[in-house]
Amino acid sequence: MSRKITVLLGSPRRNGNSETLAVSFIEGAAKAGYKAEMIRTNGLKIGGCIDCRRCWTNRTHCFLNDDMKEVYASIDASDVITFVAPLYFYSWPAQIKPVWDRLLPYFSPNSRMDVSGRSTVLIATAGDNDDRCFDGLKKSFELACNYAKWKIAGELLVHGVHEANAVSSREEILKQAFEMGENLKSQ
Ligand SMILES: Cc1cc2nc3c(=O)[nH]c(=O)nc-3n(C[C@H](O)[C@H](O)[C@H](O)COP(=O)(O)O)c2cc1C
Repeated sequence: MSRKITVLLGSPRRNGNSETLAVSFIEGAAKAGYKAEMIRTNGLKIGGCIDCRRCWTNRTHCFLNDDMKEVYASIDASDVITFVAPLYFYSWPAQIKPVWDRLLPYFSPNSRMDVSGRSTVLIATAGDNDDRCFDGLKKSFELACNYAKWKIAGELLVHGVHEANAVSSREEILKQAFEMGENLKSQ
């Protein structure tokens, strides 16, 4: 039976660098027997967590009635959760940050939705020529994964790509994204 990946794509740019890498990653993962569901978070209505802790009391997904429902359904059914995002002001773009915050229901002490032990992947792109631009995002991702008890199955952080199609001509990077997907077979 094929295994499933949720790919959360946080870029607002159609066919931009993040999406191009996501597509290569998904192709590699398909070779490893994974079926991907790509969710373009730009344009979805996903509000921020309002810290009511109703999810902890009721042991359910967030009661806010918005497009996060689609993300919860996909994550619940996935073996691998992948975050793909452009770097915005050295951090997550607003299109994907609320998804992180709305993961809170999974981390209640008595949660009925256990996602610990899942694998996760980060793919990020940035215009800066210095790879230290990713220090904050990488740290945020790694600390959050440690908290979530998720296994990091790959990180691809691509700097020096500004124009929307900059990564398309970087064969070696597209190959890395593909191979990261393909390597999921060992997960
Ligand atoms: C609002 C905004 C903030 C950005 N902030 C940064 C940044 O802090 N560091 C950086 O290196 N690039 C930054 N960039 C550039 C993007 O990360 C870069 O163009 C990336 O390749 C976009 O990926 P995409 O084509 O998938 O949207 C920013 C771009 C925008 C629109």
